[in-house]
Amino acid sequence: MGDRLAGRRALVTGASRGIGRAIALAFAAEGAHVVALARNGELLTELVADIDGQGGSASFVVCDVTDPEAVGAATAAIVAEGPIDVLVNNAGGNSFSAPVVMMRPTGWTKTQTLNVDSTFWMLQGVLPSMVAAGGGSVINVSSVAGLAGAPLMAHYGAAKAAILSLTRSAALEVAASGVRVNALVPGWVETDLTDFLRHDSNVESSLLDRVPMQRWGTPEEIAAAAVFLAGDESSFMTGQTLVVDGGLSVMP
Ligand SMILES: NC(=O)c1ccc[n+]([C@@H]2O[C@H](COP(=O)([O-])OP(=O)(O)OC[C@H]3O[C@@H](n4cnc5c(N)ncnc54)[C@H](OP(=O)(O)O)[C@@H]3O)[C@@H](O)[C@H]2O)c1
Repeated sequence: MGDRLAGRRALVTGASRGIGRAIALAFAAEGAHVVALARNGELLTELVADIDGQGGSASFVVCDVTDPEAVGAATAAIVAEGPIDVLVNNAGGNSFSAPVVMMRPTGWTKTQTLNVDSTFWMLQGVLPSMVAAGGGSVINVSSVAGLAGAPLMAHYGAAKAAILSLTRSAALEVAASGVRVNALVPGWVETDLTDFLRHDSNVESSLLDRVPMQRWGTPEEIAAAAVFLAGDESSFMTGQTLVVDGGLSVMP
C-alpha cells in the first residue's frame, strides 16, 4: 500500500471490469476511498470486497452512464455524501465496426452517447463541486483511435477525439480554480473490450505487428498512469493528453 492518494475520494466510472477496475484497485492501494460506478452490481460488489481484502476503502453505485437522469441523480447523491477529489470518466467502448457509408445513424449516436455524452454529463455532475472546493483532478479516458484516422471505427474515433477536445476546453475553464482536467489515451489493452481480437491469431499478430513494443498493454499499466494524473506528481499538468500505447501512436 502506498499513500499517494491518501485522504482523497475518487469516483471511477466503468469500474466493474478492465481498465476501470484496475484504476479502482490502484487508487485504493494508494490510499484513496474509491466510489466505483458501473451497471453490473455483482461485479462492483466483488471489486469492493477485493479492495476491502487489501485493506483499502471503497463503495459502489450502480448507474448507466448513457442515461443523463441517472447520471444526474447518481452524481448528486455521491457529491452530497462528501467531496470528490478525483473523477475518472472511463466507462466507454465500441461494439461494432463499419465503414462510414454503411454505418447506421443509431450506431453512430449510441457510440457518441456512451463515450462523449456520458463524459459531459459526469463533468456537469461533479465539476461544480470540485471548483467550489478549489481543487481536484479529472481524467477522461480517450483512445489512440481518437488521435489518428480509425478506419471502420469512425464512430469510436470521433467520440474519443471529441473527448480530447472536451478535456482541453474544460481544463481551460476551470484551471484558475485549481481543478485539473487531463486525458488518458490507452493503446491496445488486454480487456473484455478487445477479447474478440484475440480469438483469431492472424488478426492478433497483424495488430501487434503495428505496436512497436509488440504486445498488449495491461490494465495495470494504464492504471499506473491514472495514479500519476490523479495525484500531486502531476500538479502542474492540465489540458494534456497522456498516451500509454507501447509506441503505437508515434509509428511513421
Ligand atoms: N481495451 C483497450 O484496448 C482500450 C483502448 C483504448 C481506450 N479504451 C477505453 O478505455 C475504457 C475502458 O475500456 P476497457 O477495455 O476496460 O473496456 P471493458 O473491459 O469493456 O470495460 C468497460 C467498463 O465500462 C462499463 N460500462 C460500459 N457501458 C456502461 C454504461 N452504459 N454505464 C456504465 N458503465 C458502463 C462496464 O461496466 P458494466 O458493463 O458493469 O456497466 C465496464 O466496467 C473505455 O472508455 C475504452 O473506450 C480501451
